[in-house]
Amino acid sequence: MAPRGKNHFGVGCGCVQKIHSRSRAETKKIARIFAASIGVLPRGKGALVVAMDGELGSGKTAFTQDFAHALGVRERVTSPSFVVMKIYPLPRRKGSGFRRLVHIDCYRLAKPHELRALGFADMCKDAENIIAIEWAARIKKILPAHAFHLVFSTGTHPDERIIHVDDALRMPPLVNSAPMR
Ligand SMILES: Nc1ncnc2c1ncn2[C@@H]1O[C@H](COP(=O)(O)OP(=O)(O)OP(=O)(O)O)[C@@H](O)[C@H]1O
Ligand SMILES: [Mg+2]
Repeated sequence: MAPRGKNHFGVGCGCVQKIHSRSRAETKKIARIFAASIGVLPRGKGALVVAMDGELGSGKTAFTQDFAHALGVRERVTSPSFVVMKIYPLPRRKGSGFRRLVHIDCYRLAKPHELRALGFADMCKDAENIIAIEWAARIKKILPAHAFHLVFSTGTHPDERIIHVDDALRMPPLVNSAPMR
């Protein structure tokens, strides 16, 4: 088991599970499994916050698109890097109190307080929100303590992506965790 502690983005992350995706289709499957498991994740009284980091092109937006579709979002989910934040209403689902997905990209933010001005603190307190944040390390000072961290990286094969998952968020074993050969 990998040691607990801070990852190379400086955000708290156990990072004990590495999930290997060999294709865009596999990422879709991983996102579907993730979406099916969010109801049981511990998150206190606030929003479910998914803090994503990883180099350019490592698959943060792709994963969020697949995650959004798995949650029932029908409209096209596009990268919010220029607009910072996009909000998608979620369809009512039995057993789910989540009403909206907030997709945030911090890449172009100069300072975390720009996000405060968009009402980030209140959004984090709202248990009806799922908040997926790209380049989350840039706002680590204002990230809620209960955020789940996903760190994305590329592999040796052009279509390989690796998702490093918080140990609090263990994915079921049907997700592939073997690297590509
Ligand atoms: N296994 C895979 N999983 C996800 N995306 C993949 C995979 N293989 C190839 N890709 C491609 O990798 C690219 C990932 O780009 P994406 O915009 O999601 O990255 P990003 O991490 O959001 O980058 P940025 O930091 O610029 O926002 C897409 O073009 C996608 O089609
Ligand atoms: Mg992106």
